[in-house]
Amino acid sequence: MAMTAQRPYGTEDVIPRNVNKWQTIERVARETAEKFGFSEIRVPTFEQTELFLRSVGETTDVVQKEMYTVSARESTFTLRPEGTAGTMRAIIQNGLLGDALPCRVYYNLSCFRHERPQAGRLREFHQFGAEMAGSPHPCADAEMIALANNIIARLGLSNISLNINSIGCPQCRSAYHAALREYFSSRETELCPTCISRLAANPMRILDCKSPVCGGIAKDAPVILDYLCDECSEHFEAVKKYLTLMGIQYKINPKIVRGLDYYTKTVFEFICSDIGAQSTIGGGGRYDGLISELGGAPTPALGFGLGLERLILAMMAQECEFIQPARCDLFICSMGDAALEKAMTLAMTLRDEGYRVEYDVMGRNIKPQMKYAGKLSSRFVLVLGDDELATGIAKLKLMSTGEQTDISLGESFEKQFGDAAIAEMFSGVLDGIS
Ligand code: HAM
Repeated sequence: MAMTAQRPYGTEDVIPRNVNKWQTIERVARETAEKFGFSEIRVPTFEQTELFLRSVGETTDVVQKEMYTVSARESTFTLRPEGTAGTMRAIIQNGLLGDALPCRVYYNLSCFRHERPQAGRLREFHQFGAEMAGSPHPCADAEMIALANNIIARLGLSNISLNINSIGCPQCRSAYHAALREYFSSRETELCPTCISRLAANPMRILDCKSPVCGGIAKDAPVILDYLCDECSEHFEAVKKYLTLMGIQYKINPKIVRGLDYYTKTVFEFICSDIGAQSTIGGGGRYDGLISELGGAPTPALGFGLGLERLILAMMAQECEFIQPARCDLFICSMGDAALEKAMTLAMTLRDEGYRVEYDVMGRNIKPQMKYAGKLSSRFVLVLGDDELATGIAKLKLMSTGEQTDISLGESFEKQFGDAAIAEMFSGVLDGIS
């Protein structure tokens, strides 16, 4: 029996009818990142598992529960659960830190996490991310936040809350870890088994455990902002000053710790309250220790990732505009072999001029051809039969009005079509003016 093929649970197909939503975000994000001086980087879909253990961290949910790992011969590989680790690996491996700093890159990639799927949470999802390596200065933090904020604004989204926090450096972290251990130890028996093991290894991870019980206990835990060293405190103050200077509104949220271990100092999340429980449309922060952890010369760095699926949900909820799917400019109906051959050559000529042109490739009669042209919402239709081939003149029909004009099939065909297409483009505008 033939199988009924199904996509894997937690994945999505993007069908042609919806692809304009993706293209809108990809275009806006790319253009904005380029304006900020970022260039595109493309990295492999899978990396050695060790890379994610070292960067994302062994005590995170991502590493402990969500990675797709495969063994191939003697090596173990993991489908990337996020984009930062692979990007930093590529920056180091390709010697980009030896070029002019800061090194600024952006990417648009799929990520894989074995999470429980729900609205806005998938097992394969997509991130647009940007990373900057080389600057320890707090203005770099403000610049990255400004880039993410600008992308979100240019997509037409509003009421997005920017939450920021500082989670300090290893120096302030040790006092904070001690305070967390003391706090959670008194309620150890209530914690989930994973968090019990995190208590010794990395108590900050308990703060973003998805279990409601652990979450409830974590609500009253000490906050890192009370434990920042002078340098981290000054850095955070400066980031806030620069954000204000740039007119970017933010909220300080001392509860943000992020789900990945590499962060230091500034962390941030963009929250949209219109899309349900999975409301974080993007997040990021500074990770000054990651590059050296991965074998590069110690180099401060920072970045963010925006979730494309969640951005689409937010844009749909807020009825933002997407770029319109491309329309067919001309459908050429043909009757008989000679007309079909003429249709094929005319189509190629107009495509060279940049028009979107189709003709019948199904061997259908004229009526279904016209019906199909209507379904395509083609701007124009041209009908070719023996008479048109004999006279070298055919009727070009403007579908919005039903108006017909004669068009010569000879050498000036593409020029005449171009004139008609321009006239059609302006007809609505002129109607509006008159
Ligand atoms: P993240 O917060 O794990 O950060 O993911 C960034 C964004 O990806 C989230 O805010 C969310 O919009 C989206 N996302 C995450 N998991 C899922 C999922 N299962 N389904 C749908 N969307 C999801 C990072 O990944 C960091 N690499 C960001 C970064 C870059 N930090 C510094 N540079």
